[in-house]
Amino acid sequence: MASGARLVILGKQGAGKGTQSVRLSHYLAVPHISTGDMLRAAVKAGTEFGQLAKSYMDSGELIPDDVIMGIVEDRLAEPDASRGFLLDGFPRTAIQAEALDEMIKPHLIDLAIDLDVPTELVLKRLSSRRVCQTCGANYSLEAPPKLNWTCDLCGGEVVQRPDDTEVAIRRRLDLYDKATAPLIEFYSQRNLLVSVDGVGTPDEVMERLVAVVNKARYSRSAQ
Ligand code: AP5
Ligand code: MG
Repeated sequence: MASGARLVILGKQGAGKGTQSVRLSHYLAVPHISTGDMLRAAVKAGTEFGQLAKSYMDSGELIPDDVIMGIVEDRLAEPDASRGFLLDGFPRTAIQAEALDEMIKPHLIDLAIDLDVPTELVLKRLSSRRVCQTCGANYSLEAPPKLNWTCDLCGGEVVQRPDDTEVAIRRRLDLYDKATAPLIEFYSQRNLLVSVDGVGTPDEVMERLVAVVNKARYSRSAQ
């Protein structure tokens, strides 16, 4: 894998994609491109598109493929993404995965990481998750901010995500099984998939991710 890594992180809702992508993108010095974060920024900005996106997100539905593909294509065209990227939450359907191949042609992605966590554990993590309304930093009931649900990083209010309701979580996990889990096979057939155990502390999971990324780097540079 060249220094400008092009990575995709897959995994169920609550697997820790966001948590680990923040760390891994710093480690690799590539931008962390999270479609969920981009959509939440549009919701917060109160644009017409943001209002439409919110209606899909709050009920756990996926944004239509053509809409999300347009957003990602524009983001990947920005100068910082030319040296690599870590995509979190995209692709999420077979159509999006095919579109990503087209967007980055003549390159391929270097690696798709499946962050593997059992459903019982993601359900526990999602019901306990709390996020900063201002900067999006992640907390949980087990690891709250230091001061009274005020973000340690920016002082924003730390709240439950509107799509972390029981009904929306069930719908999101159902859509994961139907639409996103098949991407594991899609990337496996292309010999681009690596599965990483996402159970353990965030530091333990990060260590495993760094190990697989460095192994892929080494084997590509040796080819
Ligand atoms: P998105 O924001 O991507 O949400 P998601 O897929 O539901 O995934 P999550 O963010 O819930 O999980 P995560 O894996 O990032 O877990 P996290 O690190 O937060 O998408 C939201 C919505 O936007 C979608 O439902 C859809 O409507 C729309 N959308 C986005 N992309 C789209 C696309 N491509 N196409 C169509 N629609 C799209 O961790 C969860 C919790 O666990 C946190 O509290 C965290 O602190 C904790 N935690 C993490 N790791 C650990 C650990 N190792 N030990 C203990 N706790 C941990
Ligand atoms: Mg996330």
